[in-house]
Formats: sequence, structure tokens, C-alpha cells
Amino acid sequence: MDLTNHSIVSEFVFLGFTNSWDIQLLLFVFSFLFYSASMMGNLVIVFTVTFDSHLHSPMYFLLANLSVIDTVFCSITAPKMICDIFKKHKAISFCGCITQIFFSHAVGGTEMVLLIAMAFDRYVAICKPLHYLTIMSPRMCLCFLVTSWIIGLIHSLVQLVFVIDLPFCGPNILDSFYCDLPQLLRLACTNTQELEFMVTVNSGLISVGSFVLLVMSYIFILFTVWKHASSASSKALSTLSAHITVVVLFFGPLMFFYTWPSPTSHLDKFLAIFDAFITPFLNPVIYTFRNKEMKVSMRRLCSHLVHYKSIS
Ligand SMILES: *[C@@H]1O[C@H](CO)[C@@H](O)[C@H](O)[C@H]1NC(C)=O
Repeated sequence: MDLTNHSIVSEFVFLGFTNSWDIQLLLFVFSFLFYSASMMGNLVIVFTVTFDSHLHSPMYFLLANLSVIDTVFCSITAPKMICDIFKKHKAISFCGCITQIFFSHAVGGTEMVLLIAMAFDRYVAICKPLHYLTIMSPRMCLCFLVTSWIIGLIHSLVQLVFVIDLPFCGPNILDSFYCDLPQLLRLACTNTQELEFMVTVNSGLISVGSFVLLVMSYIFILFTVWKHASSASSKALSTLSAHITVVVLFFGPLMFFYTWPSPTSHLDKFLAIFDAFITPFLNPVIYTFRNKEMKVSMRRLCSHLVHYKSIS
């Protein structure tokens, strides 16, 4: 496909947030701290789950995979945005823009399906505890993983196939700090109404659909826990509340982006920052600092490391 043939625009320019130096500095410190913290936190989870055999169970494997996805997800737009904050001319090439859209939708879609797999895992653990290990076999886990990556890729490709052929002939200012479909479509020199509708349906449906599915399954699980109140239920409840918090925080901003007719750009940017920096950071906080097993494991691994150092 020859892109230069019909697109005169070779780069897009981000407006960023503001020209005020103070706010830029604040934003830089804030995003740098949150980005480093999410990377560290998620890598610690992957490291702990991989190296502690006590955590070799389906739930923790899925959690570690979620952390891998989170590190990828926040590395798609955040590093460029952080580097751009102080630049006067914040530009991205056409290919760079398409790449950002491709990966953020592929990885985001994968994360949604993985969250559904995690809900299913909790459902089996709580409602069918005796069959947990037979149902959530290693093969099943792998099957969930492969399925979520395939759905993420299809979701992303289906939208991009149409966008890559659009003519971009002049306007190239994006009132944002990263590339995404709704803003990009507004710059095309053709009627994109049908395409916008397709994006709303595709991205809106996958986010609202998964959200409704997740909320319903968590309500069902909570109901089951509540009916069989026992000593195990308080632990189940704390795990469940962690999952539900992640689901609400992840989907809230996304559903807003894709289904709201014309969001104000300030609110849009604020939610975008939230999704880019705070959500990936919250996963490790919610799962590790509130999870006793995880904390015990991290302590155990730490003491192993110290011990290993002192004898070598
Ligand atoms: C992801 O899940 C698979 C399947 O359960 C598991 O084998 C793999 O170790 C997990 N990845 C990480 C980084 O834990």
C-alpha cells in the first residue's frame, strides 16, 4: 500500500495540554513518577509470580499476564508524551500515529478479554471450588491467553484497515497528546461519518459489552458468596473487591471516550491521563498491597535474594 500516494500529511502535531511552564513541570513530574512506578510495580508482580512456586496457580498466572499487558500498554503512549512535554513542536509521523493506534487497541482489547478470563477464574474458584483445578487447567489458561490476544488483534486490525486508506490532505493538529481514532478521523478530508460510527460500535461495543458482562458476573459471584457466608467469604470478598475496582477504573474512561458524542477536550485529556498513567499503576497497588499471599511471597523472595547475596 502506498501511503504517500494520497496523503499529503506526513506528520501530525499534538497540541499537548498547556503552554504554562509551571503546569508542564508538574505534569512532567507527575507522569514520570507514575510511569516509573507502574513499570516497577508490574515487573515486581511478574517477577514474584514467576519465581515463587507458591503462586503457581491460575489466578496468579493470569494476574502476571495482566501485569505484562499493563507494562506494554503504558509504554505505548506515555514515554513519547513525557519526552514531548517541554517541546514546542510535538510531532508524530503518520506511521508512528498508526502504530500507536494499532498497539493501544490491540493491547487494550486483549486486556479486556483477560479481565473477563480473570472473572471466570474467580467464578470457578468460588462457585465450583471442587472442580477448580480441573476446569482451570494449564491448557485452559493458555487457551484464554491466546484467545484474548487474537480478539485484541482482530479488534484493532478491523478498525485500522479502513483508516489507513483515508486521505489526509491538510489539517494535522490533534488536540491531544497521543493518537487515537476519534480525533484522527476528524482530520480526514472526506466524509467519515460511517467510519466514526463503525469505531463507536467497534470500540464502544467491546468496552461496554465486556463491562456489562464483567459487572453481571461479579454480581452473580458476590451473590453466591453472600448466600454461603463462611470464614472463607471475607477473603473471597477482598479479592473480588480488588477485581471490581480494577474493572471499574479501567472501563470507566474508555466507555466515555468511545460512546460519548462529543466530549469536551479538557475532560477528555484528563481521562486520557488517568487511563494512561493511573490505571496501570493501580493494578499492582490493588493486587499486591491488599493481597496477603502476594506480600508474603514478595518478602520471601526478598529474603532469598539477600541470603543469596550474602553467601556468594
Ligand atoms: C501467563 O499465563 C500462562 C498460562 O497460564 C503462564 O504459563 C505464563 O507463565 C504466564 N505469564 C507470566 C509472565 O506469568
